[in-house]
Amino acid sequence: MEHARDLEPPPETALADGPGTATNTGGRQVVVAARGLTKVYDTSGHRVPALAGVDLDVPAGAFYAIMGASGSGKSTLLYLIGGLTRPTGGEVIVEGHNLARLSDRARTVFRRRRLGIVFQEYNLLPTLTARENVALPWLLEGRAVGDCRARLDELLDAVHLGPRADHRPDALSGGEQQRVAIARALLNDPAIVLADEPTGNLDSKQSAEIWGLLRRFAANQGKTILMVTHEAQGAAYADRVLVLKDGQVVGDIEPKGNQDAALVAARYQELAG
Ligand SMILES: Nc1ncnc2c1ncn2[C@@H]1O[C@H](COP(=O)(O)OP(=O)(O)O)[C@@H](O)[C@H]1O
Ligand SMILES: [Mg+2]
Repeated sequence: MEHARDLEPPPETALADGPGTATNTGGRQVVVAARGLTKVYDTSGHRVPALAGVDLDVPAGAFYAIMGASGSGKSTLLYLIGGLTRPTGGEVIVEGHNLARLSDRARTVFRRRRLGIVFQEYNLLPTLTARENVALPWLLEGRAVGDCRARLDELLDAVHLGPRADHRPDALSGGEQQRVAIARALLNDPAIVLADEPTGNLDSKQSAEIWGLLRRFAANQGKTILMVTHEAQGAAYADRVLVLKDGQVVGDIEPKGNQDAALVAARYQELAG
């Protein structure tokens, strides 16, 4: 069983009060902070630098996009923030917790309670309905769908899949399957949603629906969203776009609404090209 005491109390002040703040948070509380965040993968003596000293501050309720060429370190940054891998240098502080200082168990509890994670692959179980797939984290804890049906249907409605609740993945489009995965990520009402190229397998219409949903979860529910994307069109939905190159943040872009994709693309080329 999990208990709240598995988590250390957060420190009084977040790192964001210190010097060297990379981004202006407009006075809002910082929920994700990184300082000098570094990751070198070491596979059988071969060292691959993936992140080379990233500083960032993400305020509560913000929608951040992360862009960069393949291999620039985007996934690594997201996985460090999600506590799925450990930094080799620097720190990442999520809701006041220094993830590297939590025990493995406490980090797992923290992730399950406070983070929702979405991948390019939807990772749905083919034999379960949409509703059961959303419920999966709870089913694994021994709960029954019948006991949490109202919550499941609320989530399915939020991703516009209410009428598809009883359909299995093979009856759903890619975009619909990804929306099931997003609803599942929201099951525990996480403060932070991490999405790694969530529209990588989708056409532009389905992608736009995902981006719109993510933006609304930030604006209306105060979720803090970090989304890795290759697409300027998707990044233009975000409040801020961080551009990674060779494991470093080389600049950021503030789109002025999702009509701004051409400007985001041009600025991205300047920064990363
Ligand atoms: N588990 C791993 N072991 C070794 N090298 C890795 C591993 N994961 C990523 N890398 C390397 O780290 C660098 C950054 O990868 P990644 O964060 O996946 O970039 P992106 O998501 O921007 O494509 C790349 O050179 C990649 O090959
Ligand atoms: Mg990646």
